Amino acid sequence: MPAECWLNSQALNKAGNDAIFSWYAKYKNAVLGGHNAINATVGSLLEDDGSLAINRAALKAVKMSEDVEFASYAPLKGLPSYLDLSISLALGHERSNLEDLGLHMTSIATPGGSGALYLTAANLIESGQKVLLRDRHWAPYAGFIAGCNLKMETWPLLPSSPSETPFFDQSGFEQSLQSLREKQSKILVWLNDPAHNPTGLSMTPSGRRACLESMVTSALSSENVGHTLVIDAAYTMYAEEPHGWAETIREAIHQGMPWPENLLVCFAVSLSKSHTVYGLRTGALVSIHPEMEAVKRLETVFGVTGRSTWSAAPRIAQHAMSVLHENEESGSHWSTERDRLKAMLDERRNTLLQSCQNYGIELNPTHDGFFAWLESKDSVEIATKCAKHHVYVVPLEHGIRIGLCSLRASDCDLFASVLSQFIG
Ligand SMILES: Cc1ncc(COP(=O)(O)O)c(C=O)c1O
Repeated sequence: MPAECWLNSQALNKAGNDAIFSWYAKYKNAVLGGHNAINATVGSLLEDDGSLAINRAALKAVKMSEDVEFASYAPLKGLPSYLDLSISLALGHERSNLEDLGLHMTSIATPGGSGALYLTAANLIESGQKVLLRDRHWAPYAGFIAGCNLKMETWPLLPSSPSETPFFDQSGFEQSLQSLREKQSKILVWLNDPAHNPTGLSMTPSGRRACLESMVTSALSSENVGHTLVIDAAYTMYAEEPHGWAETIREAIHQGMPWPENLLVCFAVSLSKSHTVYGLRTGALVSIHPEMEAVKRLETVFGVTGRSTWSAAPRIAQHAMSVLHENEESGSHWSTERDRLKAMLDERRNTLLQSCQNYGIELNPTHDGFFAWLESKDSVEIATKCAKHHVYVVPLEHGIRIGLCSLRASDCDLFASVLSQFIG
């Protein structure tokens, strides 16, 4: 194998092109070849004309920043105004209610939501242990996990029989929690909700409540096992309930749910999609716990980890988005822009669902965000046949990811008619 003499054993496992980029390249080649191709491959939100959708308020805030904000380092843990903003972005209108209920929050700026996920993998579980996630998930999770010398355990995305929580498999989750608890000193759960990538699934209030209660029960039953629930909120601003998790936590505490000392809830915040600043690599890890000392200690540990991994997170979007949201007028401009983009996604999703129904295609439940999903064992074969008709999707391990973020509503009928010819 080439380069073997330099690569360590972990590096030797790193192979291949990212499937998403390689299928996007096939679409681009078709366009260069003069074909009227349909693109459902990209993971960034595109306007109907194929250009990148940009939140004008966020872009204006960046452009209005002083030169020094582009050039300087940010403080190692992040700009204080941004850290405050990131907590509000995670918790929304529930922030003050949660503070009144005695919860404490700290935040640390990270290079995107990816940086936030990395901080949890690097610090909140022991080397060699398993991170718990759903069996359909964003593919790069596997790389973060392997890179930190961890393994993964999964539970089913959907319950196998009718359930009170149709979009959360509580019994599968509890079984996994129990088996991990018996073997591990720490439990780390990554949950990409709402607007899950790659399906667009969003859990309901009863599903969120059931999940939180399972974590609490598990933590209470094994007080020496540290439990962390990380809500990966990368697409939350395009969901019907962007702060549903904060609402669930507030309601549960109001109704007497105890908060075990060994339970930590974190939010992996990403500005990539919410503010359409993908390339400015800005996110945050927000930690929530009733004890101030606990979250302060985590803040220090995360800060030290960031220092020795990426130094400080980039400054410009931290600064610009703090200024944007401090001002009522620019803040509401951002909301109006976000609402327009959300409405575009909603229209595409509704049209696709209708078209799929017309052609007898059964998609997975899909509610919010950038994607929809067709479960399939033959995803590469189907995607290859669709490509012959200039319809481009991303074949992944258990199915086909349909990027609503790049699929025009007016193309949905043709899209579904082509897809329907190749599914079993
Ligand atoms: C599920 C999920 N989580 C986290 C991220 C992190 O994004 P970023 O690092 O750009 O903020 C993404 C980006 O595509 C994602 O799809």
